[in-house]
Amino acid sequence: MKILFCGDVVGKSGREVLAQYLPSLKEELNLDIIIVNGENSAHGFGITQGIAEDMFALGVDVITLGNHSFDNPNIMDYITTQPKLIRPLNYVNAAGQGYYILNHKNTKILVINLLGKLFMHSKLETTDPFAHINTFLEEYKLTEDIDAIIVDFHAETTSEKNAMGFFLDGKVSAVLGTHTHMPTADARILPNDTGFQTDVGMCGDYNSVIGMSIESALSTFFLQDSAPKLRLTPALGEGMLAGTLLEIDSMGKCIFIESIKYGKIFKKENQNV
Ligand SMILES: [Fe+2]
Ligand SMILES: [Fe+2]
Repeated sequence: MKILFCGDVVGKSGREVLAQYLPSLKEELNLDIIIVNGENSAHGFGITQGIAEDMFALGVDVITLGNHSFDNPNIMDYITTQPKLIRPLNYVNAAGQGYYILNHKNTKILVINLLGKLFMHSKLETTDPFAHINTFLEEYKLTEDIDAIIVDFHAETTSEKNAMGFFLDGKVSAVLGTHTHMPTADARILPNDTGFQTDVGMCGDYNSVIGMSIESALSTFFLQDSAPKLRLTPALGEGMLAGTLLEIDSMGKCIFIESIKYGKIFKKENQNV
């Protein structure tokens, strides 16, 4: 089973690059499943029903979210009616669900969205991600009821993401980090056959500060009182798609993982198409 996971889609640039590449990638890479993190797809903050529906129309099977899940409050109603749009599992008491079980060609793929604790400063009540997923997975075991389990671990620090990778090694098919928006060079298979990457990267304009316009983002780092603080807005240049390609065998083990990038910035050194 071949799965493509695309990292955080940021604003219009991210949506456009997704629309540009996904339909052809589905064919070229012979993909069974496409999962996309959409937490920044609506002008950098949250997602709308229309944007989610556009992504599903492109062939996306499941959309994951993160700490920006509910930045656009209108999504609250939609998320309760659309189970393929999932918010963090450990957002207890929030609208919607933290997982979705996808049926594909007589297989069941469990997709989970999970939020880290370190430096996340989430306003919503969040339980310990390690304890929460440990309990949750007692119900869902690979090969017994489920053919593959993909965890989007949405967290700030590399250490917490690496810890989660080893914590779930052998229990899930892949642990893929999101939220920091920069693709890391460590995509690999852990000792007990779980695919892992610290961060998948973002789909968006990389001539930016993690997707936000350089000017607006820089203003948040200048500490002098006299420096004007600008509202963060997404960068609007041509986007790049950053994703992770997985191949999962019939036992739910990851047998192949590769970080892929399509689009502008990495064209010369790392063009995949
Ligand atoms: Fe994000
Ligand atoms: Fe995030």
